[in-house]
Amino acid sequence: MLPTAELHVHVEGTLEPELLVRLAARNDVALPTTDVAALRARYRFTSLQSFLDIYYANLAVLRTAEDFHELAGAYLARAAAAGVRRAELFFDPQTHLRNGVPLAAVFDGLGAALAESPISADLILCFLRDLGPEAAEETLRAALPFRERFIGVGLDSAEVGFPPSLFRDVYRMAAAEGLHRVAHAGEEAGPDYVWEALDVLEVERIDHGIRAMEDGNLVRRLRAERMPLTVCPLSNVSLRAVDTLADHVLPAMLDEGLVVCVNSDDPAYFGGYVDDNYRAVARELGLDDAALRTLATNSFDACFAPPEQRERWKAELSGEAN
Ligand code: ADE
Ligand code: ZN
Repeated sequence: MLPTAELHVHVEGTLEPELLVRLAARNDVALPTTDVAALRARYRFTSLQSFLDIYYANLAVLRTAEDFHELAGAYLARAAAAGVRRAELFFDPQTHLRNGVPLAAVFDGLGAALAESPISADLILCFLRDLGPEAAEETLRAALPFRERFIGVGLDSAEVGFPPSLFRDVYRMAAAEGLHRVAHAGEEAGPDYVWEALDVLEVERIDHGIRAMEDGNLVRRLRAERMPLTVCPLSNVSLRAVDTLADHVLPAMLDEGLVVCVNSDDPAYFGGYVDDNYRAVARELGLDDAALRTLATNSFDACFAPPEQRERWKAELSGEAN
C-alpha cells in the first residue's frame, strides 16, 4: 500500500460492530440486535440521512473516556497497518454532549489515543449543521478550554437545507482562534454549497465536493486556487451519491487537475478503510499507478502537518517508485 494521508475520516464512523456490541454490554445500552452479522446487514443506505439515523443511534454506546480511547486507538492501529502516515480525524462533540457525555471525557479519551498513536494524527472538531449556527457557536465556546487539543473545525451531518453561509460567524470565531477550517460541501447538495464554503467560510479544504464538477467556473476556481477536495468513493456509492463506482467523477477530477485525494469517511459503515478505497478506485475506475501516486501526493500536500514533514512523506512516496 502507498504511503498516504487520510484527511476525511469521522472517528465515530470507525466504530465496528464488534466494538459496538462490546461497548453496549459494558455500558448497559440496548441495541436492536447484538448479532454482528445482523448489525452489518442493516448498513444498506438510500441517502445520507438514512445512514445518519443509524450512525447517531449507535453512538449512544460511547460513554467514557476509555470508550473514546479504544475507538480511536483501534482506528489508528488499522490506519498504520494500511500505510497511513498522517490522519486528521473528525469528531462530533455535539452528538456526545446530547448523549450526556462531558466534553472532557471526549477530549481525554481521543487525546489518550493520539498520545500513543503509531502515526502522526490530529483532531478536527465538526459542527452538526442540522443543529444550526447558534448551537455551533456554543459548542466552539465550550471547546475553547481544550483549544490545544484540536487543530481545526469542520461542518458535517445533513447537508441539504443547511447551507455553509449559515455558519459564517462561527467560522470567523474559529479563524480568530487560529484554527484550520474545512467543510463538507457538494456531497448531496449542489455546487452553490461549495461556492459558499469558499466565499463565506473561507475554508482550506472541501470535504467531498463531487458535485462541484457540475459547474465549470467552480472547477476553474478550485484548480486555480489548488483547493484540496477530500473525496470518499466507497461512501459515495453507499449513500447513493453515485450509482456505481464506475460512474464516479474521480477520474474527471484528476483530469481537470484538481487537488483531489481518497479517503474512507465512515469505514465501519461503507465497506472499507482508505486502502480499500484506493484498491477499489484502481480496480473499478482503471486508475493506474501514476494516478494513485498523484492521489497520495495530493493527500500530503493537502494535510495540515508542518511543511518539512509533508516533504519527507512525499520523498518517501517518490522513493517507492524506484
Ligand atoms: N457524518 C459522518 N459521515 C458524514 C458524511 N458522509 N456526510 C455528512 N456528515 C457525516
Ligand atoms: Zn464525511
